[in-house]
Amino acid sequence: MKNKLESIFYGATFNDFLLKPQFSKIQSRKSIDLTMPLTHGINIAMPFVGANMDTVMGDEMMKALSLEGAFGFLARNKSIQESVDEVKYVKRQHSFVIEDPLILHKGANMAEAKKLAGEKDSSSLLIEDAPGSKILVGILSHRDMPPVNQHNKSVTEFMTPFAKMITAKTGISMEQAEIIMFKNRIEKLPLVDAKRRIKGLITMRDIKLSKQKPYSSKDKKGRLLVGVSIGATGDYLERAGALIKAEADVVLMDVAHAHSEIISRAVKNFRKEFASFPLVVGNIGTAEGAKFLFNLGVDAIKVGVGPGRGCRTRLETGAGTPQLQAVREAYLAIGGKVPIIADGGTKNDKDIFLAIAAGASTVMSGSIFSGTYEAPGIVVEDPVTRQKVKLYRGMTSPEAVVEGATGEIEDILSTPSEGQSVKVPIVGSVADVLRRVKGHLQSSVSYAGEESLLATQKKIAKDPEKYLIRLTEASKAESFDR
Ligand code: XMP
Repeated sequence: MKNKLESIFYGATFNDFLLKPQFSKIQSRKSIDLTMPLTHGINIAMPFVGANMDTVMGDEMMKALSLEGAFGFLARNKSIQESVDEVKYVKRQHSFVIEDPLILHKGANMAEAKKLAGEKDSSSLLIEDAPGSKILVGILSHRDMPPVNQHNKSVTEFMTPFAKMITAKTGISMEQAEIIMFKNRIEKLPLVDAKRRIKGLITMRDIKLSKQKPYSSKDKKGRLLVGVSIGATGDYLERAGALIKAEADVVLMDVAHAHSEIISRAVKNFRKEFASFPLVVGNIGTAEGAKFLFNLGVDAIKVGVGPGRGCRTRLETGAGTPQLQAVREAYLAIGGKVPIIADGGTKNDKDIFLAIAAGASTVMSGSIFSGTYEAPGIVVEDPVTRQKVKLYRGMTSPEAVVEGATGEIEDILSTPSEGQSVKVPIVGSVADVLRRVKGHLQSSVSYAGEESLLATQKKIAKDPEKYLIRLTEASKAESFDR
């Protein structure tokens, strides 16, 4: 592969290109596969990634993205314990087997049962014999919860006792479990060993969800994938350790300028403790930066200096690389050996396609997700239009810095802002957004004359001058002015 940046990419960003339409043999665009590598070793069906920003990513957004086959990284503006709780919450949402189902001992009363089920947002509890014994004696479901005036009664009065329960052994397949549950018209199937000790729980809800969404981003145990983010100084190793222990799947080490001594030290320290754990590092915006991260042995490289909607870096510092030039430089520098996440600046769905055509494997966005119901942004009414909007803010905007600050006020005030807040319209659910993006990406692949996004990326990224047209001012106006 040629390593020299092609002239069409100098100073180039999203609105500079169109794809030259290619002959297509595709009968139906719906069959087009969009699976791409997120990191060395992890593929996702929908190559779109939520940015680790506090007005974009929380546990609900993480759950929604992974369920739809996409991915995201939880923001790191919370305490370590709060972040651990977010990871655990998402991991509990879906699995083949719930390995640690909620258990209460038979000496408890209904008030305790209701409290535990409410706190953990669970519809059923397994009842054990002596506390900690894990010997199954019954199951209590939401249908068994009596009115408040009976809350001081024992759980044993309301549970279905073991003698009337249907259970199974560990190792049972999903198909077998489904047959047993269907035959017995039950929604939950506890797994026990020969001594009746609780080994897990299979639910009909999980089985149905797996069938409805076979493309979800899942780990080996069928649980939703979770990405987390850390910095490169301060508590980053402690945070990484706690989140990895909570079974996060990918760590993103994220700083504004990752082509730096600080990152070199931090990645080496990370590797000493978590040798081969999937690690994404960013952001860089040059060939040299990409080579530098590649040589540090990272599992994916995040590219983008200043293109983001909430960014003021280019305005305030004059530093940055036009985003498609940055992606292309990175791709050429590492020869496609490590996946690239193109981060920031995508406004229209075609931008996601163009980033991938230039060499990225996946695309990260903050603003496109920020107006969805699942984004943790604050809903406000625009006083002029009376429309409901959400606030989306850069992570170094004055508001985000002050709110996330733990240090001295002088330190905070002496850190000049490189981010800003903007209002974004409410756009519906994440699933709606992903459905739209998926359809558009499938159409792009069809226009590229291919049957999968991966094949398209390989073809165009190998020889972009053959497939991409660098636009003139007139053709930009013809294409985009509406
Ligand atoms: P989009 O365009 O998708 O960009 O909204 C998301 C990306 O923007 C970056 N980001 C920032 N960049 N100052 C910056 O210069 C900031 O305060 C800031 N906050 C977020 C980040 O890379 C994110 O993924």
